[in-house]
Amino acid sequence: MNLKNIKSLFLTLLLAIPLMVACQNEQKEKAAFIKENIAFATAQTDKMLQSLGEPTGKNYPRTTKNNGDLVVTGMYDWTPGFFPGSLWFLYELTGDAKWKDVAEKWTATLEPLKTFTGHHDLGFMMYCSYGNADRLFPNAEYKKILTESANSLSSRFSEKTNTIKSWNYRKAWDDSTEMFYPVIIDNMMNLEMLFYASKITGDKKYYDIAVKHSDSTLKNHFREDFSTYHVVNYDTISGKVLNQGTSQGFSDNSTWARGQAWAIYGFTMVYRETKDAKYLDAAIKAADLYLKNLPDDLVPLWDFNVGEAGYTPGWKSYAAKYQEKLRDASAAAIVCSALFELAGYADNRNYTDYAVKMLHSLASPAYRAALGTNADFLLMHSVGSLPHKSEIDKPLVYADYYFLEALIRYKNSK
Ligand code: GLY
Repeated sequence: MNLKNIKSLFLTLLLAIPLMVACQNEQKEKAAFIKENIAFATAQTDKMLQSLGEPTGKNYPRTTKNNGDLVVTGMYDWTPGFFPGSLWFLYELTGDAKWKDVAEKWTATLEPLKTFTGHHDLGFMMYCSYGNADRLFPNAEYKKILTESANSLSSRFSEKTNTIKSWNYRKAWDDSTEMFYPVIIDNMMNLEMLFYASKITGDKKYYDIAVKHSDSTLKNHFREDFSTYHVVNYDTISGKVLNQGTSQGFSDNSTWARGQAWAIYGFTMVYRETKDAKYLDAAIKAADLYLKNLPDDLVPLWDFNVGEAGYTPGWKSYAAKYQEKLRDASAAAIVCSALFELAGYADNRNYTDYAVKMLHSLASPAYRAALGTNADFLLMHSVGSLPHKSEIDKPLVYADYYFLEALIRYKNSK
């Protein structure tokens, strides 16, 4: 090695050392952040388990009453899969068999849902519970239950509309229209179980339904700027779109933050399963629109257009009276988790940086509850459905689920 080479090696080392030190510090901070959040989540969930007692099929935690008391639901609501799913995540984060035992118990009570066809949320109900169970402990019985659940969900698919029907026929909640075949953007999330069913059975029919539903959603739920409509109502005979609007957002033409979150997460997942670039494009455009509308702490308003000129809530909507600009931590948690994945498919867009900042924001005292408060939920300040005067500025079980999933994705990220 000549003098010139030695000099250049020396210079390279000189430059690299501070970078290596910075990188090591960052890794240490990351490990400490994850450890502290796991310690909190396990302690808080221990308290939740004590307050719930044994699973009965009727006591899945959901939110709180106005006086702060815990609200639980039966299994036929859309949210019973999230608590068992969170217990699986705690097992994944700790490796402690105690969490596996409780996760198994809380998952097992949902088995009767495998034949349920009353609404579209079977993906949330069964894939967050049994899907996580089978991912961590692959098992023929779990696969049988998930396949039967996928059959039940598929029974709601129509070749006319090329979508899975979200809700059964109903009058719009403010009586403005009849909803013959309502499909909501949330429905994208239920497709993950269908992709999985095709993988474990070798039968492509579930995959085909998921792709057709995604294509119809791509066509009918997005506006030009890639903001989303919450509800699209189809004609059952012609299969045509009758109207596009909202049920849980501020107004028909507004962007409901959690709806946008479901779109980002959903299309990221569909891209993972299909590798079709049009879904990645949709996920990126929906994510960029979402990021453009965020306040400094990266937790969105429950609807991006609350109180803005040109956005009018329906006459029966509580949003007409209540225009306080509340945040929705549940949307933030869903997007945070989604961005960790989307970053892997779009590495030129700083999505990991955004996701890490969102996770820190959610884990700060502004959104993460103090131990033993918040009826033992992890996160505060979500909005279930403001127009229906329901779950306003409350904890929500699915905010906690996606927060824990984001924590796992952060832990696994490079
Ligand atoms: N899937 C119902 C909701 O997001 O509120």
